[in-house]
Amino acid sequence: MEPWPICDDAVLRPFAESDADELHAAIEANRDHLSEWLPWAPRQGRAQTLEFLRTAQRQAAANDGLQLAIVERGRIVGSAGFHTIDWPRRFTSIGYWLARDAQGRGLATRAVRACVVHAFGEWRLERIEIRAAPENARSRAIPERLGFRELGVLRGVERVGDRWVDHVVYELQAADWPRPLSDRPDAP
Ligand SMILES: CC(C)(COP(=O)(O)OP(=O)(O)OC[C@H]1O[C@@H](n2cnc3c(N)ncnc32)[C@H](O)[C@@H]1OP(=O)(O)O)[C@@H](O)C(=O)NCCC(=O)NCCS
Repeated sequence: MEPWPICDDAVLRPFAESDADELHAAIEANRDHLSEWLPWAPRQGRAQTLEFLRTAQRQAAANDGLQLAIVERGRIVGSAGFHTIDWPRRFTSIGYWLARDAQGRGLATRAVRACVVHAFGEWRLERIEIRAAPENARSRAIPERLGFRELGVLRGVERVGDRWVDHVVYELQAADWPRPLSDRPDAP
């Protein structure tokens, strides 16, 4: 798969096993930042990162998901991807993270928009879900910016560190997306 440009300086591209060192270094450098909301972050060492990359390759080969690196000026600064694909229901969900110093420039929003375009355009899926903790304002802003609809709150569904976290569930239906999001007048 060719890299997807998301702006002048950044692309989305599938992860490869050869990313292990760089991805591990990015996680290591951002461990506190990521551990606030991502349950895997506190304990993910290099071995787990390599396992993640291998699983991602198997998943992509089986057409059951896609894990993408957000690469800005040649440096991995985050990730966006599809957890799995439910083909019978034509449904997927999207997750993402950015290095602390890559925040605030719209990289995650653009990456998720590119994922949405791919899921509805290329894969012809019908529904995409994004979940975020109610207090994770930066994460919630992403589906809200892209026109996802807030469906409700699942209570205590994820263990993050020593606390149980609620999830606000957002969805976007293909029917609510009649043309590429980038063409909408309110697109960021
Ligand atoms: C969630 C996370 C990816 C959000 O990062 P972010 O930088 O706020 O999101 P974006 O990259 O889309 O940037 C949005 C910001 O850039 C600005 N921006 C600039 N150009 C923009 C553009 N073209 N499009 C969208 N936003 C743009 C926005 O106004 C916004 O600024 P603000 O923070 O002052 O409101 C990041 O905080 C993170 O990784 N957190 C830890 C892990 C996590 O919580 N993951 C999600 C779990 S559900």
